[in-house]
Amino acid sequence: MVIRSVDELEVAGRRVLVRVDFNTPLTADGEVADDTRVRAALPTIRHLIERGARTILMTHLGRPNSQRDPRYTTEAPASKLAELLNVPVIHTDDCIGWGARKLAMDLTDGDVLVLENTRFHPGEKGAERTFAERLSELGELYVNDAFGTCHRGDASVAVLPTFFGGRRAAGFLVARELKMLSGLLDGPKRPYIAVLGGAKVSDKIGVIDSLLTRVDALLIGGAMAYTFLAAQGTDVGASRVEADKVWLAKKLLDKAKSLNVDIVLPLDHVVAPSIEAESEACSVADIEPGMMGLDIGPRTAERYSARIMAARTLFWNGPMGVFERPAFAAGTRTVANAFAESPGYSVVGGGDSAAAMALFGLAGRVSHVSTGGGASLEFMEGKVLPGLKALEED
Ligand code: 3PG
Repeated sequence: MVIRSVDELEVAGRRVLVRVDFNTPLTADGEVADDTRVRAALPTIRHLIERGARTILMTHLGRPNSQRDPRYTTEAPASKLAELLNVPVIHTDDCIGWGARKLAMDLTDGDVLVLENTRFHPGEKGAERTFAERLSELGELYVNDAFGTCHRGDASVAVLPTFFGGRRAAGFLVARELKMLSGLLDGPKRPYIAVLGGAKVSDKIGVIDSLLTRVDALLIGGAMAYTFLAAQGTDVGASRVEADKVWLAKKLLDKAKSLNVDIVLPLDHVVAPSIEAESEACSVADIEPGMMGLDIGPRTAERYSARIMAARTLFWNGPMGVFERPAFAAGTRTVANAFAESPGYSVVGGGDSAAAMALFGLAGRVSHVSTGGGASLEFMEGKVLPGLKALEED
């Protein structure tokens, strides 16, 4: 896949349309709750400003159901960007139309404009060519720096670049993601250990299937571990099990066996009668009826930590328990610490595991934390991401 880099484009005095992923969590007051994704796009934006480009940023935010919804305005990330750059940032109340066009045409060198949410129009999710064409009228060059959205076929990601021929490129964030994630696919050093957690096996089937052909061991935690334990015939009490996926977990266990890959499941658990009953949390080896596993237990955490420390390549996606609640955070914290301490090449997928690394103050201690949750998983599955495909040189 040959993709041009933003630093190969002549950007001075040109209107550069940049697809970013400012799909940031917001506080109840509508402020940016976690600015990681805005910060991650700064190198490309600064590069453009310093070279006298006229930067036009577009993003989606949330899932506004293809219509204008003030809860999902891009005003908050635009103000966060202005604060981080320490320069004024202009914001439009629509991403297409006369107003957006006028603001784009009036930009001067070094200016930055943030368009309103692209998902306020059905053409975005619908990947409509006419919508992409209207966006294309705003810029002379196209840059994709939205790795977190590259697995989507949305118009601004997968259709818009086709209007720009040789005038399209990847930004620095996308380039770094590709380099760091490729390190997990191309000749990884051994032992190679993947840690997977989160709620559902069904969300991770593709990636488990693909990881089984690459890794030496797969350490499993989170609610999905209970579907695997149920597949082995272990009693898991009231723990969350995807009953219709038990057969699939069994199939994956059999596949691992035939490939000689170790699937490691929890030996003990932190249980409580419900997520709310934090004060009743206790560690057990066997889950009693009526109790549910909400974190891996201390022996399991220790065991996983030792495997992580001995690995030379590491990938992690999905928390080990309900880490947002202190009583069920220890397992995820132990895994996060082991990733931070490990001398191996360590990559944390986006989403909840990235949020956990940030919560524990460990994000800077691993080789890479991806800004893409779904995107990094699909990349690891070996899928061609539509946003990257659309950037390929003709
Ligand atoms: C993400 O947060 O994973 C990306 O911004 C994509 O958002 P989406 O899942 O709503 O398409």
